[in-house]
Amino acid sequence: MNSTAPQSDRVVAVTGAGTGIGQATARAFAVEGAHVVAIGRRSEPLTETAAGHHRITPLPVDITAEGGPEQIARWVSETFGRLDVLVNNAGVVRSGTLGMLTRRLIAVQVATNLVAPILLTQATLPLLETAGGVGLTPEQMAVVREWQLAHCGRGPPIASVRWPDRAHQDQVHCHRQFRTSTLAAFH
Ligand SMILES: NC(=O)c1ccc[n+]([C@@H]2O[C@H](COP(=O)([O-])OP(=O)(O)OC[C@H]3O[C@@H](n4cnc5c(N)ncnc54)[C@H](OP(=O)(O)O)[C@@H]3O)[C@@H](O)[C@H]2O)c1
Repeated sequence: MNSTAPQSDRVVAVTGAGTGIGQATARAFAVEGAHVVAIGRRSEPLTETAAGHHRITPLPVDITAEGGPEQIARWVSETFGRLDVLVNNAGVVRSGTLGMLTRRLIAVQVATNLVAPILLTQATLPLLETAGGVGLTPEQMAVVREWQLAHCGRGPPIASVRWPDRAHQDQVHCHRQFRTSTLAAFH
């Protein structure tokens, strides 16, 4: 990160913070001294993540809900007035054969793994940019934009792709790379 702010002033938002990688990430930032906003749909796992970590604050929000990303940005702004790191960790994976995929299964995954991280990053970008110079530099923003265009916007038309090779790989690659690039840009 570019911040000269002391770790104790930094604010980190982690989605999917109630379980697994998100829980470990939230606790790791809290142990380092940052304020951590732990985001997820269910309150109980978030409360568990925060147990014993007074710097972790649970924020139960569905990131795919209409207005969810804006709600998170507003809450962070009103509570802390800054955001130094956004960890777009929340995700759902429903693996299986092509035959078992339904429109609903596809929609949930795309909404959670791709659309929500984009909208949440968009909603929190003003906070990230003004967090004492910690936010994205123009070069870092260019990395994220360039990646999105290269991997999501300029991919082959889905109809011309043979399942499961490119279509599946591209979709998975797309959202994973987006999160990785976003994280890399914020660090
Ligand atoms: N574990 C692996 O080997 C692996 C490998 C590759 C990629 N990943 C990715 O890494 C991330 C974390 O993996 P994990 O194994 O730790 O996953 P996990 O334990 O299943 O955690 C996913 C978290 O996302 C939250 N979540 C899901 N939908 C949400 C929504 N709409 N709004 C807010 N929160 C939501 C869930 O909490 P609620 O249900 O309470 O909302 C849950 O805490 C995921 O994105 C996963 O796809 C994991």
